[in-house]
Amino acid sequence: MMNNLASLVMDNLRDITAREYPCYARILDHSFSTAPPPFSMNWFGRRYFELARDPEWFANSLVANSALEGYGATQIWNFSTRMHQDEYIEAVQQHALDESRHSTMFVSMLRLTFPGLTMDARTEERIRQQQPRYSPDQLPEARRLAPENRMSADDSINELVGVHLTEIRALVLQYLLRSVIEVYAPATAQQRIGMFCASLIRDEARHIDYTARIFEALANEGRADLMVDLFEKRVRGFNDLTMIELEREKQMAI
Ligand SMILES: [Fe+2]
Ligand SMILES: [Fe+2]
Repeated sequence: MMNNLASLVMDNLRDITAREYPCYARILDHSFSTAPPPFSMNWFGRRYFELARDPEWFANSLVANSALEGYGATQIWNFSTRMHQDEYIEAVQQHALDESRHSTMFVSMLRLTFPGLTMDARTEERIRQQQPRYSPDQLPEARRLAPENRMSADDSINELVGVHLTEIRALVLQYLLRSVIEVYAPATAQQRIGMFCASLIRDEARHIDYTARIFEALANEGRADLMVDLFEKRVRGFNDLTMIELEREKQMAI
């Protein structure tokens, strides 16, 4: 039987693509079975629902998510300027634009869910600042570095695995968030909130998809063993980091 998180990922991929990634599926299942991520555990969901019972915590978590999505957008765009491989550029840059859009979507969801919420000018300004607002007409300034200044091919793949795990965590948290936001949102906002959540889940699945496709191709090019090692190493590191964040902040954000 497949690890529960690995099968959630594969189910979500099946919802958006007809492609199969047999090597990737094995690698993911192996690494999650060897080092189960905290966010695949029952206690993680229980803790989230416990915290989210406080509307103020939940409203703050929406703001924190907007900040994290915005930060993710800038990080991913910067990565696209340093990444070795030209062939992934378009997908990675599109990814940065998606995360920027998510940053703004979380602010819209905050206002829809808590229509009576008033914020002081400083908070409003901070919320405005944390949205990169990238779009095809408004691309970030950082341009692609000259080939000699880019990362190595292996370092770029290593970084992509890290990005990939962040996307899987984002997907899990979207599901948790969806079941809570539907409770808080007023009836008149339900339909739009439902659309936002569906679109966030689909986007995170698409981010998992394009990176999985890259890993599948690498595994088929004879680098399967390397991908297994890389995934195991990065999953362990990612799990440790998640635990440290949970200890330190005593709060959870996507
Ligand atoms: Fe996102
Ligand atoms: Fe994403």
